[in-house]
Amino acid sequence: MVTVIVVGGPAGTGKTTQGQLLSEYYHCPFIEGDALHPKANIEKMSRGEPLTDEDRWGWLKTIALESSRKAYENPTRLCVVSCSILKKVYREYIEANCVHHEAVRFRFVFLYTTFEELIQRVENRKGHYMKSEMVKSQYDIMEIPQGDELLKNKGECVTVDTTNRTPREIFEEVVKYLRLPVEDRDKEPATAEPTSAEPEATMV
Ligand SMILES: Nc1ncnc2c1ncn2[C@@H]1O[C@H](COP(=O)(O)OP(=O)(O)O)[C@@H](O)[C@H]1O
Ligand SMILES: [Mg+2]
Repeated sequence: MVTVIVVGGPAGTGKTTQGQLLSEYYHCPFIEGDALHPKANIEKMSRGEPLTDEDRWGWLKTIALESSRKAYENPTRLCVVSCSILKKVYREYIEANCVHHEAVRFRFVFLYTTFEELIQRVENRKGHYMKSEMVKSQYDIMEIPQGDELLKNKGECVTVDTTNRTPREIFEEVVKYLRLPVEDRDKEPATAEPTSAEPEATMV
C-alpha cells in the first residue's frame, strides 16, 4: 500500500506552501500540480479564462498517474502533490485514474479561506500565472469536502480553514489529522511495480 497526499483548495489557499512542508516532513517527493498542466491550459489561465471540466480531465489523470508512480518509486511509499481538487468529482476521478488503484491510498487535504483573503494572497504573490480574476471562478465552483468524504467519517479528506493561521500551525494540524506513519523511510521501493498501461477511467 502506498499513500498519495493531495494538497488542495483554490488558488492562493496555500497548497504549494503546505505541500513543501509536508514533503520535507515525510521525506517524500513533492509534485507541483500546476506544472503538469498542458500548455493550452496555462495559456487559458494566463488570459484569465477559467478552465472547464473538459480542460481538466487530462490534467487530473496526469496528476493521478505521476503522483502514484512517484509514491511507488520512493522508499517512503509516499508522495505529496498539489492540485486544486475543487469538485468532488475531480477527487473521485484522481482516485480512479492512478496506477494500481487498489493499492494506493489517497488523502485529500483541502485548504480554504475567505474570498477576500485569497485575493490578497494571490495579489501579494509574484511570478505566478494564476491571477486574481481566476480566484473568483475557483471560489465559486469549490466544493469543500463534507459528510462521507471526510476522514472522520471513513472518507479520505481532511479540511482546514487557513484564515488567520500561520503556515506552521496549519501544517501541524494537517500532520495530526493524517496520522501517517513516518517509520517506513529506509525500505526498498515497493515490490509491486506500476505497469505502463494506464488504468481505465471509471468515471465521466
Ligand atoms: N497561512 C497563510 N497565511 C498567509 N499567507 C499565506 C499562508 N500560506 C501561504 N501564504 C502565502 O499566500 C500566497 C499563496 O500561497 P501558495 O502556497 O502559493 O498557494 P497556492 O499554491 O494554493 O496557490 C503565497 O505568497 C504564500 O506565501
Ligand atoms: Mg501553488
